[in-house]
Amino acid sequence: MLTAGCHPATNQTDAALTATGELVALSGGGAGARNACFSCHGLDGQGDGDSVPRLAGMDVGYLQKQMQDYADDLRPDPVMTPIAKRLTEDERRAVVAWYAAMPAPVNEARREVRVPAVYLEGDAARGIIPCASCHGDNGQGAGPGNPALAGQPAAYTLEQFRRWKRTDRRNDPRGVMTAAVAPLTSGEMVAIAAWLETRSPSRSPDSGGPTASVSASAAAEPAASRGIRRPDR
Ligand code: HEC
Ligand code: HEC
Repeated sequence: MLTAGCHPATNQTDAALTATGELVALSGGGAGARNACFSCHGLDGQGDGDSVPRLAGMDVGYLQKQMQDYADDLRPDPVMTPIAKRLTEDERRAVVAWYAAMPAPVNEARREVRVPAVYLEGDAARGIIPCASCHGDNGQGAGPGNPALAGQPAAYTLEQFRRWKRTDRRNDPRGVMTAAVAPLTSGEMVAIAAWLETRSPSRSPDSGGPTASVSASAAAEPAASRGIRRPDR
């Protein structure tokens, strides 16, 4: 069960990172067996469709930052904070590289839900920048640091909006998300979360997600990936 299987690594550093990542995902590493990531996020990194988000195919720099932010109490969460604190920095880096390298899911069941206008267009009168400008027209994400939102469970996304409103989650660079969410009505938050859940994170399993090797290299250079995550506006 603990072999590096279908995630080819191109050199020894990648191979070591991949092996450690898989081990932490399956065993919980320093966080202990009770906290093995797969037990909540799934063997395929797809989450539980409710409060546990998918990790598969997410940007590695974004995931790495989240683990650090949980550990540093910038994104306090009753489940993830204690887990992140108990992992070493190397374990955190390796395990998210493992998940980031997995293929993003293809969302087959496409209910037709209309895209909320505020997501695509923002609302100048209320100072809302279009969400799409940072997260893409279909929530597919836009470069390092601006995460994909497509296919995340509506309950998870809605909970993130609530935490920004209350400023419980305060790990967004330059307060971009705190500002984006503050003017939204509850109706808009519900509509955006419901629509995002229906979006497909990838067109096909081969649509060019990060390879194990690319993710591993990015994870091996935390300074670089943290440096480019800030949107320049
Ligand atoms: C007991 C269930 C559970 C376990 C075990 C668990 N997680 Fe989580 N994870 C969650 C929940 C619930 C959330 C959402 C928390 C929130 O709203 O901030 C989450 C969120 C995350 C996120 C944030 C994703 C995003 O899109 O922002 C990352 C990264 C993550 N987990 C990684 C891990 C890793 C790595 C492990 C193993 C070391 C792990 N989790 C173990 C339940 C779990
Ligand atoms: C200026 C760029 C920008 C704009 C505009 C923006 N976001 Fe974000 N968003 C970000 C960044 C950067 C993050 C990651 C913050 C972090 O590191 O935790 C983020 C994170 C998120 C997350 C959390 C994803 C996860 O996996 O936990 C959600 C949900 C989200 N944004 C929704 C929205 C919505 C809805 C809007 C419009 C109302 C919006 N964003 C507008 C930049 C932006």
